[in-house]
Amino acid sequence: MYWKWEPSYSVGIEVIDHQHKQLIEYMNELSIAGMYKSFENRQKVQDVLEKLVDYTVSHFSFEEQLMEDAGYPILEPHKKVHESFVKRVAFFKERFENGEDITKQLIMDLQLWLINHIQKDDADYKELVQKALLKKKISPTDEAKKDKWLSSLVKKFFK
Ligand SMILES: [Fe+2]
Repeated sequence: MYWKWEPSYSVGIEVIDHQHKQLIEYMNELSIAGMYKSFENRQKVQDVLEKLVDYTVSHFSFEEQLMEDAGYPILEPHKKVHESFVKRVAFFKERFENGEDITKQLIMDLQLWLINHIQKDDADYKELVQKALLKKKISPTDEAKKDKWLSSLVKKFFK
């Protein structure tokens, strides 16, 4: 099953959409790796699971920083939702390491969760974060400045 990013998932913030696309990509990798029950594929599943957990944590920290900078008022509840998601993925990873075949269930679960989260929780901070990002762009010629700020933020959270 190949999961394709759709325009309806867009939160209207390019850098965040890009990260959500990457998460979807990891889930697709996981889906492919989980199809064949060979030793190599098991190793591949393990690798993708690690990347998925790492990337998710970085993505959430990045998103939380943007929300904080934008003065998003319900940051704490959003953080809690992120936290429980990370725990959920980590629990799947643990079950996999204990020999359970979890890929299909994990992908279904994550797909539902992610779509719901993007379209409800993330959509909620959209306007404030967009405004905050625009403020960083003081004049049209300041595009480079804004990009510099964003890319330093990306560097801070992603290795
Ligand atoms: Fe989020």
